[in-house]
Amino acid sequence: MTEKIDNLIEELKKKFEDIKTLQELNDLKVSYQGKKGIITELNSGIKDVPNDEKKEYGAEVNRLRTFFNDNFSSTQKRLEDERVREKLEKETIDISLPSKRIKTGSKHPFNRIIEEVEDLFVSMGYDVIDGPELEDDEHCFRLLNYTVGHPARDAQDTFYIDEEYLLRTQTSAAQSRVMEENKEKTPIRVICPGKTYRRDDDATHSHQFGQVEGLVIDKNISLADLKGTLEIFAKKLLGEDTNVRFRPSYFPFTSPSCEVDVSCFKCGGKGCSLCKKTGWIELLGAGMVHPNVLRMGGYDPDKFTGFAFGTGLDRLAMFKYAIPDIRYMYTNDIRFLKQFDRKDDEYEIKY
Ligand code: PHE
Repeated sequence: MTEKIDNLIEELKKKFEDIKTLQELNDLKVSYQGKKGIITELNSGIKDVPNDEKKEYGAEVNRLRTFFNDNFSSTQKRLEDERVREKLEKETIDISLPSKRIKTGSKHPFNRIIEEVEDLFVSMGYDVIDGPELEDDEHCFRLLNYTVGHPARDAQDTFYIDEEYLLRTQTSAAQSRVMEENKEKTPIRVICPGKTYRRDDDATHSHQFGQVEGLVIDKNISLADLKGTLEIFAKKLLGEDTNVRFRPSYFPFTSPSCEVDVSCFKCGGKGCSLCKKTGWIELLGAGMVHPNVLRMGGYDPDKFTGFAFGTGLDRLAMFKYAIPDIRYMYTNDIRFLKQFDRKDDEYEIKY
């Protein structure tokens, strides 16, 4: 009997070693311990063994069973370990592989310019204010000293909603609103960036465009303050070597009025196609707040003076980033927008 069990153990040892899957292991269990399994049959064979041999027989069958059970557990563990190892190997991350580029959006040139202008004026003590795009004739024109029948009110230029309401043609409407709200409180030092609308449409004019308005009112504000402020603005925005010139002009709500030109950033002032051979490019309109406007806004022009300026944000962005057509600003062409994914000082502007 001992020999028989020894042989069975020897055979079983090989079988365990050859097992590759849990399925094979289970099949082996069935063939040894199942209903008709080898161990099960040896066990039931005890009834045919003479009584004095029963004890030894039982012990030998037990030896086989213990061997089977021990090897079953260790083989099961071996297979499970192998499975985990395989899985880990398959799932290892190769940290030396280049990562995927995360695509991010970019800031629209219009917003970049607004932020830059806001930062600059906030650093000089200005507040940033907002005004309605749907304005009334009173704030957009009447309180700004536009006489009845003034050409700027022409329906050729203005989108009228009805007799009284219109889409603001200029952020200057914010001037009359700020004065109305502050009623002789000074100092007023505000800028108002926002959308404006006119019935225009070509490469340099859009029916919707952006402007930023500036207004300062206090005692003893002079033309020198206006000139100093706008010189700083032009140089900070377009470069310290920018030359600035003031040209007399006319606006109903300022007196005296001027237009501010900057030396052409393409040719440096020599004259080229961008500046139409003049060496200068018009940047903005400005002037001292007209006494009538102060009075209508609730400020006594004998006590207070002020200056105002206004410029097109699209124009500024087009200058700064050499954008040839204003319509690019509004058509959401991804090829255009993608070009604004860098920091400001990483641009080399080429005209
Ligand atoms: N609102 C004027 C325009 O649209 C610009 C301007 C603003 C001029 C403030 C003077 C003062 O042309």
